[in-house]
Amino acid sequence: MTDRTIPTARLGADGPEVGVQGLGCMGMSFAYGPADAGESRATLERALELGVTLYDTADAYGAGENERFLSPFFKAHRDEVVIATKFALAVPPDDPTRRIIRNDPPYIRQAVEASLKRLDVDVIDLYYMHRRDVNVPIEETVGVMAELVREGKVKHLGLSEVTGAELRAAQGVHPIAAVQSEWSLFSRDIETGVVPTARDLGVTLVPYSPLGRGFLTGSFANADKDLTADDFRRQQPRFTGENAASNVALLEPIRTVAEAHGVSLGQVALAWVQQQAKVHALPVIPIPGTRKASRVEENVAAVTIELTAEELTLLEPIAGKVAGDRYADMTFTSAGRE
Ligand SMILES: NC(=O)c1ccc[n+]([C@@H]2O[C@H](COP(=O)([O-])OP(=O)(O)OC[C@H]3O[C@@H](n4cnc5c(N)ncnc54)[C@H](OP(=O)(O)O)[C@@H]3O)[C@@H](O)[C@H]2O)c1
Repeated sequence: MTDRTIPTARLGADGPEVGVQGLGCMGMSFAYGPADAGESRATLERALELGVTLYDTADAYGAGENERFLSPFFKAHRDEVVIATKFALAVPPDDPTRRIIRNDPPYIRQAVEASLKRLDVDVIDLYYMHRRDVNVPIEETVGVMAELVREGKVKHLGLSEVTGAELRAAQGVHPIAAVQSEWSLFSRDIETGVVPTARDLGVTLVPYSPLGRGFLTGSFANADKDLTADDFRRQQPRFTGENAASNVALLEPIRTVAEAHGVSLGQVALAWVQQQAKVHALPVIPIPGTRKASRVEENVAAVTIELTAEELTLLEPIAGKVAGDRYADMTFTSAGRE
């Protein structure tokens, strides 16, 4: 069944129009426990049928495995999909279990060639710097990214977890189409610096983890007890121990709103993120991640939900009460440098 009904929004000033909700593909190969490849493929196809056109991956997701996994889907639908991938999380030669941040020009050139090869495409539609290496001036990093655009390897540029000041400096070198940062009912630190700067510069916001990595759907309550040993969420302070116990209580107002609309908690969380486009007057294209076709249907259906002013007020205090940071090491994030 084809049912392309979702509205679209533009990536930056001159980027492509994409469905106003994208799909995060990370969990299909990495971070959130075992995935079923057949189910993931069905999820990708269903998303496309529903009008989702922005697909998000990174070279770091499963050390290239996610890009390789997505390649056949992208090739089968090359003219219908917008492929977003990222560089910067490198494996140090002495320890394959660790990741270091690299933004230097030789590394970027090596990374883009490796991504193009794994994806098996001629050009990447949206190429993000995944994390900021503060030892390399951002102008230098974006300078080499701009060369990739001129060389036809990449169409548009994006940055992930940059501060407002870093975004402004980058935009001075080359137009930035999108900033991808964590933004949800639980994570609102970007609203002080990054969001107003993106609005001023005409940059689209692509919120990642809009479902709070699943916590906002109520699908797990404590990472230590509910998730497998290798699940990344066990390393995130807000999902474990006493923090998790107190954060579960914060879902109550979301439940109240969900009941009023006859929808799920996750749909309220997505509707809230989507509605930030109006609140902050900029394009917002969240990329919820799922490996299940039924969940993609549920998530896409949230684009039509409108929350009332009273409901937004009820949800407003949640983020300020969350116990525990979103990462164990916040220097990895824009908030850690803002
Ligand atoms: N730039 C960055 O640094 C960065 C960091 C993290 C993520 N990302 C990108 O952003 C994407 C989304 O973020 P995320 O995956 O971390 O978090 P998310 O979208 O907030 O949540 C994903 C989790 O929620 C579950 N889920 C999805 N829909 C659901 C539903 N309707 N009901 C119940 N559970 C549901 C998923 O499980 P199932 O898969 O089992 O459905 C998964 O465990 C990623 O895939 C990745 O592409 C980027």
